[in-house]
Amino acid sequence: MVEERVVRQALQSVLHPKLGKSLIDIGLISDVSIQGESVKVTLALKSYRSPLRSFLTSQIEKAVGALPGVASVQVEIAIMSREESERLFPHPPLKGVEKVTRFLAVASGKGGVGKTTVAVNVALALARQGCKVGLLDADIYGPSVPMMLGVTETLDQVNGMILPLEKYGLRIVSLGMTAGQNDAFIWRGPLVSKMLHNLLDQVQWGELDYLVIDLPPGTGDPSIAIAQALPHCLVLMVTTPQEVALADVRRSIGLFHKTGQTIIGLVENMSYFLPTPSAQPIEIFGHGGGEKLSQETGIPLLGRVPIELELRQGGDSGIPLMVSAPESLAAVVFQEIGRQILEINAASV
Ligand SMILES: Nc1ncnc2c1ncn2[C@@H]1O[C@H](COP(=O)(O)OP(=O)(O)OP(=O)(O)O)[C@@H](O)[C@H]1O
Ligand SMILES: [Mg+2]
Repeated sequence: MVEERVVRQALQSVLHPKLGKSLIDIGLISDVSIQGESVKVTLALKSYRSPLRSFLTSQIEKAVGALPGVASVQVEIAIMSREESERLFPHPPLKGVEKVTRFLAVASGKGGVGKTTVAVNVALALARQGCKVGLLDADIYGPSVPMMLGVTETLDQVNGMILPLEKYGLRIVSLGMTAGQNDAFIWRGPLVSKMLHNLLDQVQWGELDYLVIDLPPGTGDPSIAIAQALPHCLVLMVTTPQEVALADVRRSIGLFHKTGQTIIGLVENMSYFLPTPSAQPIEIFGHGGGEKLSQETGIPLLGRVPIELELRQGGDSGIPLMVSAPESLAAVVFQEIGRQILEINAASV
């Protein structure tokens, strides 16, 4: 039977192509186990989709398979912790967001649940509570922040840095402000990642207490790109009361946990409808989804936003509810969500 020491020695010859060092020396071989003539090597990677996965696997199989007494080699993948990944591959600082204190991504597993509505109104709620706030529309497939905030201007550049537009006290950037707003963008994974990287690196966000990031639906490349570029980004998860929406949100929560992100809270949107202020609430989309998810995951439910005609009208007309009707029930809920975000963050400092 081959000895573990011999296997590890053979693995010294397998180099990480980017770092130029042996996988053993940089700690990427997290385990070697031997049973008879079968050897199992555990390789730690940043993600299952790492482009190096098949290359390194075949190099390991070759190096270990050539040893006498080895009949089969199995390479198992383990995902590195965020700390390990940062130690090995430190990110160059993103210039544009150097002076941003906190990042808050608004996400959901599902489309159309109100992420952008929540992102815009929570950003305004934080601004009303005295914070300096930026809003990045990271929905590169269907940027809707410009429409919701009634922004029609395009972005300017100074010394190679993009300047955010200021409206309603927010600094705003969206790809919808760089091209025709009806353009449908079709980006591939690596391009998405580069594009979002640029929106953080090459936009002069300046000093901000919060940069709120409106993510596209789902667990696709943009969410992963933001998680990788901003490992300390907090996540606000939007759901609706329906059971079908919950399944997608659970999947999305799983992804953010896997990438080491902290989900700061849940927001249940379109929770109920009040035909008149004193009427019984009508629960059009069912009941209790947010609460159920909160109990299941331990993530606090920060608010239940009612269905309000003015909220939709505000979105369509470019004047968000926090501006057009700050005393409305939904606006009060947004204000309360903002207050809790500040409280949670103050407690975690
Ligand atoms: N609580 C609400 N009451 C009334 N209308 C709402 C409410 N929340 C969202 N809407 C409306 O529902 C539509 C979808 O909302 P929004 O664009 O915020 O969802 P989204 O999750 O960002 O969608 P996408 O997945 O396409 O990015 C919009 O027309 C918005 O104005
Ligand atoms: Mg949206």
